[in-house]
Amino acid sequence: MLVFLLLLSVLGTTQFAGALPPSFSLPVGVTLTDGEEFEYIVVGAGAAGAPVAARLALAGASVLLVEAGGDPDPISWVPAAFVALANPAMNYQYKTISNNVSCLSSRNRACQARRGKGLGGTTSINYMMYVRGNRHDFDELNITGWSWKDMKPYFLRYEGLQDLDLLPPSSIPYHNTTGTMKIGFFEDSKNPWHSRIIDGYEALNFPRNPDVNGISQIGVSRIIGYTYGNERMSTARGYLGRDDVKRKLKVAKYTRCTGIIIDDDNVARGITVVHGPFKTALRLYASREVILSAGALVTPQLLMLSGVGPADHLNEMGIPVRVDLPVGNNMTDQSLVSIFVKAEESLNLPKEILNSSESGMLVPPSGSISLTDVATFVNTLCYDFVNRQLTGNSTECELPTTQFYNLYIGRGLPVVEQVIFRYLGLDDSVVNQLSEVSKNYALIRMTSVPLQPKSSGTVRLASVDPLQAPVIFPNYLSDDRDLEEMVRGIRIIEHLIETTVFKAAGASLVRLELKDCLSDGQQQDSDEYWRCYARHLTSTTFHSVGTSALGRVLDARLRVRGVARLRVADASALPRLPRGNPAAAVIALGERLADFLLEDNVN
Ligand SMILES: Cc1cc2nc3c(=O)[nH]c(=O)nc-3n(C[C@H](O)[C@H](O)[C@H](O)COP(=O)(O)OP(=O)(O)OC[C@H]3O[C@@H](n4cnc5c(N)ncnc54)[C@H](O)[C@@H]3O)c2cc1C
Ligand SMILES: *[C@@H]1O[C@H](CO)[C@@H](O)[C@H](O)[C@H]1NC(C)=O
Ligand SMILES: *[C@@H]1O[C@H](CO)[C@@H](O)[C@H](O)[C@H]1NC(C)=O
Ligand SMILES: *[C@@H]1O[C@H](CO)[C@@H](O)[C@H](O)[C@H]1NC(C)=O
Ligand SMILES: *[C@@H]1O[C@H](CO)[C@@H](O)[C@H](O)[C@H]1NC(C)=O
Ligand SMILES: *[C@@H]1O[C@H](CO)[C@@H](O)[C@H](O)[C@H]1NC(C)=O
Ligand SMILES: *[C@@H]1O[C@H](CO)[C@@H](O)[C@H](O)[C@H]1NC(C)=O
Repeated sequence: MLVFLLLLSVLGTTQFAGALPPSFSLPVGVTLTDGEEFEYIVVGAGAAGAPVAARLALAGASVLLVEAGGDPDPISWVPAAFVALANPAMNYQYKTISNNVSCLSSRNRACQARRGKGLGGTTSINYMMYVRGNRHDFDELNITGWSWKDMKPYFLRYEGLQDLDLLPPSSIPYHNTTGTMKIGFFEDSKNPWHSRIIDGYEALNFPRNPDVNGISQIGVSRIIGYTYGNERMSTARGYLGRDDVKRKLKVAKYTRCTGIIIDDDNVARGITVVHGPFKTALRLYASREVILSAGALVTPQLLMLSGVGPADHLNEMGIPVRVDLPVGNNMTDQSLVSIFVKAEESLNLPKEILNSSESGMLVPPSGSISLTDVATFVNTLCYDFVNRQLTGNSTECELPTTQFYNLYIGRGLPVVEQVIFRYLGLDDSVVNQLSEVSKNYALIRMTSVPLQPKSSGTVRLASVDPLQAPVIFPNYLSDDRDLEEMVRGIRIIEHLIETTVFKAAGASLVRLELKDCLSDGQQQDSDEYWRCYARHLTSTTFHSVGTSALGRVLDARLRVRGVARLRVADASALPRLPRGNPAAAVIALGERLADFLLEDNVN
């Protein structure tokens, strides 16, 4: 089904508007007037902001949730459309600064930075994979009150697992079936590569893991996702679409926060915004607290604009320094390398899809995300590269260092080039090579993702104009340990492609010609070649965290140090990446902050 949606998404999404009504409704936006006051103001309706605002409103507080975007595009409710959600109305596509050692085969050598805009934030455009990470991710923080034991109740509080009956009994203590964020398995993709990939990893002695959120994270797995009734479950749907929340919460759409109002005693009093179609500038007040949930790229921008950040940078920008804090530093993200495998087409693609624009054919909604729900976690140091077997079983081996993902790209689609290869941001040389292969073969993009990167980058102000995007310097692969981890991942993928099941299905590696990587007579299979390849075919999982982190910028109750009544809950507050996909932890952070606020604001 993916292919249908991809085709039509290129033709324009407006035709979906009537075709795919979601099965629920989102809150109606409010119109604001200058000087209005609320108890709490939450900035950003994404993974964390929606739970913070919804929980406060359910507890009876007066809450305003301000969101720069509006309702998500109707196509976003269809899981199969997940790679097509590049519509600028709901996807910020930020520019980044190159570091000259990563993303070298991307257009302008620039890595991508995308984020969701509108209710649900990035949970309305992401790949919907529900992975909590490893319990050690929290224990290792060594911050009082932030161990796994402290966090587990917040993961469970919101989880509404639909498919517990499909998991082993050992999984029961790790799940909740009644929480507000409904999750479950994606619809069957009917793609034979689904089981071939699993069989291939099993041939390399990877365990088949029924539940990466259960006892062990290691092995090859069919991942659970934020999906319910074959529709996407964003935080917009899980929290803001609830009737009890809609009755109580005020949501201001198309309302962009431009700064935090902080008085001379360093107490946050409210925010400034531009609101509605005429971009009216307003001041809004919070009698209790202001909460920033604008994400890892914008929350640090808003703090710096308000005088909270690194003193030298603020001085350079001519902004009076209120509090000197390492805001915007230590941004870490999981970068990845793409390996392309070519294979015979495995899906029966009806001829009509090529003519669907003429026929006006409507698209059946689809709950599948093709091969993307097959994921593998491994500690690459526990893999025996000589005998091609995952061997180790020490406790260390239970801590994955790499995650592998897969994306299926059907053969010969007229849209492949525009949608897939352009979406990945690759340059003309690579797009042309892949398009050529794609004429005759299906492609599987296999990616290897170091889970706890040592490289880190920064977010800085480009200007004192809050409507300008910040300067984003992801700085992937600046630490060679990340590159070595990627190369080990590539070697495992090579072994996977050489397993019997892959060979029998006629699959083989696509050898991309990268001039820079062969210039010094490098062997096409040397480690040196693969290092160069990884520096070229780098891209990102869009998982940045750490730019206003707990322990560095925030205290253990998520308060901004040195400013009263100002807190942060979003990806920027996570000091380091979980060994997995971050949304689950970010939502839990939102749940947790709501508790802190309710506990700390008892009269
Ligand atoms: C393509 C893609 C795929 C991904 N896949 C997965 C996945 O499969 N699983 C997973 O766990 N994670 C995934 N992620 C990451 C995950 O979605 C994010 O880490 C998470 O959503 C971050 O949450 P957040 O609350 O920090 O920010 P967001 O969810 O981005 O929310 C921030 C909100 O703030 C709003 N905002 C920004 N600036 C302002 C302003 N000035 N005023 C008002 N509002 C503002 C934004 O419009 C947005 O709605 C993916 C991300 C991307 C981009
Ligand atoms: C990358 O290279 C360009 C062009 O040579 C240079 O201007 C830029 O400063 C370099 N960036 C970094 C981070 O080294
Ligand atoms: C944890 O933090 C405490 C107090 O800051 C410190 O004494 C201890 O060494 C830390 N432990 C580890 C494993 O880092
Ligand atoms: C499961 O979800 C329900 C509904 O939100 C909640 O009341 C309950 O406390 C959760 N269970 C656990 C163990 O957190
Ligand atoms: C944060 O980044 C600074 C330099 O940018 C570095 O010195 C420091 O070690 C980093 N801290 C953490 C906890 O990663
Ligand atoms: C598309 O439609 C045109 C005319 O209706 C027809 O000539 C052509 O063969 C069709 N193409 C495909 C791939 O079905
Ligand atoms: C781990 O490996 C050791 C030595 O090979 C073996 O004795 C033990 O049974 C293994 N444990 C598990 C849990 O597989």
